[in-house]
Amino acid sequence: MTSSAVTADTLDPDTVDLADPATFADHDLSGFWRRLRDTRPVHWNPPTAERSGFWVLSRHEDIMAVHRDDENFTSERGNVLVTLLEGGDAGAGKMLAVTDGPRHEQLRKILLRSLGPRVLNPVAAAVRANTRRLVREAVARDECDFALEIANRIPMTTISNLLGVPESDRDYLLTLTKAALSADGDVLDEEESAVARNEILLYFLDLVEERRKAPGEDLISTLALSDVDGARLSDEDVVLNCYSLVIGGDETSRLTMIDSVYSLAAHPDQWRRLKNGDCSIDTAVDEVLRWASPSMHFGRSAVRDTEVGGVRIGENDIVTLWHSSANRDERVFDQPEVFDLGRTPNKHISFGYGPHFCVGSHLAKIEISELLMALRDFTTGFERTGEAPRVHSNLLNGFHSLPVRFFPDEAGLARADDERREVK
Ligand code: HEM
Repeated sequence: MTSSAVTADTLDPDTVDLADPATFADHDLSGFWRRLRDTRPVHWNPPTAERSGFWVLSRHEDIMAVHRDDENFTSERGNVLVTLLEGGDAGAGKMLAVTDGPRHEQLRKILLRSLGPRVLNPVAAAVRANTRRLVREAVARDECDFALEIANRIPMTTISNLLGVPESDRDYLLTLTKAALSADGDVLDEEESAVARNEILLYFLDLVEERRKAPGEDLISTLALSDVDGARLSDEDVVLNCYSLVIGGDETSRLTMIDSVYSLAAHPDQWRRLKNGDCSIDTAVDEVLRWASPSMHFGRSAVRDTEVGGVRIGENDIVTLWHSSANRDERVFDQPEVFDLGRTPNKHISFGYGPHFCVGSHLAKIEISELLMALRDFTTGFERTGEAPRVHSNLLNGFHSLPVRFFPDEAGLARADDERREVK
């Protein structure tokens, strides 16, 4: 097991602004979070001239309590800082993640019909074939940008398969999702990202119209033909939920995969455990998810005066839940700063908790485990060959580029060639 580098940073909680993406680009916050968990688990991030203040929860237990409590807290005024601070989310009451109550339950059941573990078997086979092909090709090329050439092409292909997005439109959609959500390197251009969000919605509107006329087996057709509260879902309902699947399912899975390669390259002892079969793929996937914590926070609004961790929270207050801190909470994890692929139990909350627990978690785990298995089977190891620039965001955590060199496992590659010949 290997310890990660922990810098003794001296950031002052009274001046650190967690709404500012620069805070995450410029510092290693592990020491800051530890201090908050120990001394100010329910911390107030003060307002600025442009935006209101908000509560910052850093302990696993408090964050789980708010996730569980949809009586006192709502997602309908936004569930991430950007929308919470703007005062709402345009998808409220329509898009699953920002809908509460009975409508949320019914919508969730519809989506789970297409995303539950059993129905995902055929999808898993396609993920496996796609991932193994991409990794084999990258190994043959010697050097590659893992983010651009592999991770970029797995989740988007999978969600596009589920939604029935035509092959020819996929690169276009990927460009839009990146512009809509993350800022690769530079400061996020709000105008550009709003245009991109709109383009995604318009794109799906065309597809919904097509599927209503000629339904298929895909998730857009399922949504288009579903009823909630006795009424057919509107075009807007369907479009917003497609958007949410693309946004929710692409970036987070992609960043987790990139982080897993980055972290395995930095922890050769853990790579050897994986390669030699000394830990299970399942525990490895959970540890990679804990370690990456790809979405750093989620959030809620208080619908009435309430209390968290003994601190009074006022009606309408914004409460942010920092998964990236909860996943390193020493009250829950033994040696949380150690990357340990055999970690068990592993109560990470990378997928959230309670009524809004990620509906795509099975799919995400399939994608990450197929990646780990392909790396294990086709390479003897890998090394970074250049800088890995971070995304510029107060929500997403990770790297948008990762230059690596793979060392081929000739025996593993030959076995895969034999298997492919047998299938033909
Ligand atoms: C919800 C994380 C992959 C679709 C969530 C939540 C988290 C999360 C933390 C809870 C949000 C909240 O409480 O407000 C992740 C991570 C992923 C991942 C870390 C990958 C590593 C996916 C995939 C899909 C997806 C692959 C779709 C195919 C959704 C949706 C919700 C959600 C629709 C809303 C669920 C609800 O409100 O009931 N996700 N997600 N996610 N996720 Fe994921």
